[in-house]
Amino acid sequence: MKDKVDLSVNLGSLHLKNPVMPASGTFDIRDTLLNMRELNSLGAIITKSIASRRREGNPGPRVWETDGGMINAVGVPGEGVEYFKEHILPLLEEANDTIIVSMVGDSIVDFCALAKKLDNFEKISALEINLSCPNLNNGLYFGVNKDVLGDLIYQLKKSTQKIIIAKLSPNVTDITEMALTAQEAGADILTIANTFLGMAIDPEKQIPRLGNKVGGISGPAIRPIIVRMIWETSQKVKIPLIGVGGITCAQDALEMFLAGASAVQIGCANFSNPYVMLEVIQGIKEYLLRKKYSSLLDIIGLVHKNHF
Ligand SMILES: Cc1cc2nc3c(=O)[nH]c(=O)nc-3n(C[C@H](O)[C@H](O)[C@H](O)COP(=O)(O)O)c2cc1C
Repeated sequence: MKDKVDLSVNLGSLHLKNPVMPASGTFDIRDTLLNMRELNSLGAIITKSIASRRREGNPGPRVWETDGGMINAVGVPGEGVEYFKEHILPLLEEANDTIIVSMVGDSIVDFCALAKKLDNFEKISALEINLSCPNLNNGLYFGVNKDVLGDLIYQLKKSTQKIIIAKLSPNVTDITEMALTAQEAGADILTIANTFLGMAIDPEKQIPRLGNKVGGISGPAIRPIIVRMIWETSQKVKIPLIGVGGITCAQDALEMFLAGASAVQIGCANFSNPYVMLEVIQGIKEYLLRKKYSSLLDIIGLVHKNHF
């Protein structure tokens, strides 16, 4: 049995030493239990979505635990890009070579101004665009309207030299249409996907459980839907995919690779197990060794070849 296996992967021009990274908003470099060596062993680090200025976020309660996951309506609070530059970016630079900054904006102009600013920071490898946020011009989420989505990605590509990762919203009829639109507009990579809109109600008080009334569902409950979306999208687009939604162990991540994802993100599983990303990296390695593959690349999209 070979004892070496190559976990590295190139998502277009974005090189990752392995395919595992945190999902935006579920991991904070300032309060992680991981030490420097462990942080550096992640494929990349992704920030919480940052905005051009300070944002309050939504009124509480902001999270509610559901069967097989949680609903959150945090609302992307944060101190804004200047604070990020001063207080968070230096910590990230120490921790990992591959930093991906997730961005949120109120309008295309706002998004592009932020991208221009981030373009100046050499150590940022890529920008992930959080499309699950409302466009103040029409109140619709960027990720649910093809024209707005296409226009945003197109304008962003003109505003920055950085690699653009479009994080799609799953709250659409056909995610492959959104994926094709993003690809045509110039997105380099797609992340599939953000959270699913949901709601929980307190029957005693007869009111919504969340201050924002509705929120995004994440966790194991959404994984089969995400796997299906990766499987469908990877047959339609040429650009690489990052899978995210409900991964709690290596087996879960492997489903996404086999469906066609080239990398994965782990979100709320970090809350219950701070070491889950390290365990997933190790589990992928063990699987590849056991199955006698020399590289992760050997299994990406394999389900399409094995079964059609
Ligand atoms: C508390 C919380 C905060 C989040 N914040 C963000 C965010 O700032 N930007 C973003 O693009 N996604 C955000 N997400 C979505 C996650 O990045 C991820 O897409 C989602 O949780 C599905 O992955 P999971 O099932 O592994 O948690 C957040 C999710 C949670 C649970």
